[in-house]
Amino acid sequence: MKAHQSLFITFEGGEGCGKSTQIKLLSQALLEKGLDVALYREPGGTKGAEEIRALLLSGIQERWTPTTEALLMSASRADLVHKCILPHLQKGGIVLCDRFTDSTLAYQGFGHGLGYEATSALNQFTVGSLTPDLTFIFQLDPIIGLERTENRGKGKDRYESFDLSFHKRVQEGYAEVLKKNPDRCVAIDALLDIESIAKMILEEICRKVQQEYPV
Ligand code: TMP
Repeated sequence: MKAHQSLFITFEGGEGCGKSTQIKLLSQALLEKGLDVALYREPGGTKGAEEIRALLLSGIQERWTPTTEALLMSASRADLVHKCILPHLQKGGIVLCDRFTDSTLAYQGFGHGLGYEATSALNQFTVGSLTPDLTFIFQLDPIIGLERTENRGKGKDRYESFDLSFHKRVQEGYAEVLKKNPDRCVAIDALLDIESIAKMILEEICRKVQQEYPV
């Protein structure tokens, strides 16, 4: 991989699926190869967006309506995209993002029932034509995912407190995203061990780079 090749990679999935562990491992591996990597998370990533994250993740479920929630997610995203993601890609760097627009489709579109069309339109308004080059969607039964988050012993955040049927709809949302974007999205079996998943991810990235930047 050459240093000037920009690449935008996102990690997606339900609660407790292990994507945050994997994105950190990937970031470390790419940094060790001397690549210019920036790692962000959503909601969050800038000072203002982290403030929005705190608003979204704490408090009771009814704190925000689904529409307010979708707009807050988008406000956080717009800040991160314009201040960090686009500038890093424009200088040829690699951007790794723990969640992006597909989370809004799955959580607000399906989980809360705002619908695919409405959340797609909002995503388009928020990020324009910016689309990840590659998206890893971690697949895990939400019963197992929620159990994993409980075992972390940190208490539940606002999303983890939504009921199982919400999280099942989120999974359906991700299945739809995968179906609609087969060239961009790669399904990851989140039950596999950490090392195997990390290896698969690196292999997929190499494949993608060869496709986009053939020598
Ligand atoms: P995290 O647990 O992966 O850090 O993500 C924070 C929560 O925010 C997670 O429960 C999913 C939720 N979320 C949405 O509902 N919609 C979005 O667009 C994003 C980015 C996150």
